[in-house]
Amino acid sequence: MKKIEAIVRPEKAADVIKALDEIGHPGMMISEIEGYGRQHGKDDKVMGKKYHIDLITKTRIEIIVKDNDVKKISSAIREASFTGGIGDGKIFIYPVDDAVRLRTNEKGEDAIY
Ligand SMILES: Nc1ncnc2c1ncn2[C@@H]1O[C@H](COP(=O)(O)OP(=O)(O)OP(=O)(O)O)[C@@H](O)[C@H]1O
Ligand SMILES: [Mg+2]
Repeated sequence: MKKIEAIVRPEKAADVIKALDEIGHPGMMISEIEGYGRQHGKDDKVMGKKYHIDLITKTRIEIIVKDNDVKKISSAIREASFTGGIGDGKIFIYPVDDAVRLRTNEKGEDAIY
């Protein structure tokens, strides 16, 4: 099993969730985060005054899937979140050792699907 962690633009989150619901997934976690990538935030201008924002709000979508589904889910996230502009976000993929469905005590993939 793997955890797919996608950091996307908040304004793209609804499209990403819709795309994932259409192709099917076993569940997801959504949270609002703040962070920055290699540009270290962004420069902005309000009423002629320049200032720098360090932390930019993004939406984090986390899904635990079986190894075979990683490609399909990652591609759907990329297609739905893509603008081509700086700050489109990232996908991180982590190994998951185990899972437990608390109600039934099922383990591993049985706990996910
Ligand atoms: N190396 C990293 N480690 C942890 N979080 C990261 C990392 N890179 C990006 N992030 C998170 O992902 C968000 C989006 O990153 P972002 O799309 O700006 O990446 P980037 O590498 O700067 O690419 P781009 O050049 O397209 O902006 C950041 O706000 C931060 O929350
Ligand atoms: Mg960036």
